[in-house]
Amino acid sequence: MKVRETMEDILNGERWRVDEGDCLTWLRSQKTASVDCCVTSPPYNTLNTNKQARTYRPGDKWMKKTREGYADTMPEDDYQEWLCAVVREALRVTNGLVWVNHKTRYRNGVGIHPLHILKDFPLWAEVVWDKCGATTFNQRRFATSNEYLFAFGRPRFWDPSNDGLLSVWRIAQDTNTEHPCPFPERIVEPLVAASCPPDGIVIDPFTGSGTTGAVALRLGRRFLGCELNPEYVAMSRNRIANYHVRPVHPVAADDEHQTTLFDL
Ligand SMILES: C[S@@+](CC[C@H](N)C(=O)[O-])C[C@H]1O[C@@H](n2cnc3c(N)ncnc32)[C@H](O)[C@@H]1O
Repeated sequence: MKVRETMEDILNGERWRVDEGDCLTWLRSQKTASVDCCVTSPPYNTLNTNKQARTYRPGDKWMKKTREGYADTMPEDDYQEWLCAVVREALRVTNGLVWVNHKTRYRNGVGIHPLHILKDFPLWAEVVWDKCGATTFNQRRFATSNEYLFAFGRPRFWDPSNDGLLSVWRIAQDTNTEHPCPFPERIVEPLVAASCPPDGIVIDPFTGSGTTGAVALRLGRRFLGCELNPEYVAMSRNRIANYHVRPVHPVAADDEHQTTLFDL
């Protein structure tokens, strides 16, 4: 049997690396407790199950990016089982907190909260991300404008200067990228700063455009990522190599001006 490698071995003196491939296979090949922190945002299994999503205007920028470059559809039961398998493996590999970004989705009129799915994992902390806007589809419920960051496991490192930070973060979505669903760097920064030791290793099994990697490098940590889509592998490598260049963020909305996604 192949001996599992430590992330230190894989990095082999480099500060970062992004591998192309499937995240479960990638995680299963890694040694237990060989990294310090995981910050990730899995696919939400939202495409083709959301009838209203099809009502986007043809040519809409987000729709085009999503339809043309992003596979995100599984039977819901398979998706939940798969997501748990990924989080379980991430917890095994990480000697610290595993941060998972997710949101409540609605299927046949019933909300599926991410903690319904991830109920068996020990929850250490949660952050409510107020995205400053929403796409509304006349669903006879309030337009969802929040997501969550859940920390599973236990912090082996915690920078106490973050203890005063409140758990609701109002941060506008980052729309200034060719990836259909990146999370903003400002979401990732406090997670890495608080829960990964200086020079520690952060992983992201769903690297996407490389947000976690760019932030990790900028904060003096190392990074290992995995991404299935070769286009995003190239995108993330390019971004992380230029990690010192900050993306232009949309201005965060204030309380008086609730923007929608389409306003940003
Ligand atoms: C929500 S996006 C992550 C975006 C990322 N946080 C960013 O800021 O750009 C999820 C990513 O997971 C990738 N992905 C989907 N299935 C995967 C798999 N089985 N293994 C690795 N990556 C996968 C998708 O291609 C997509 O880029």
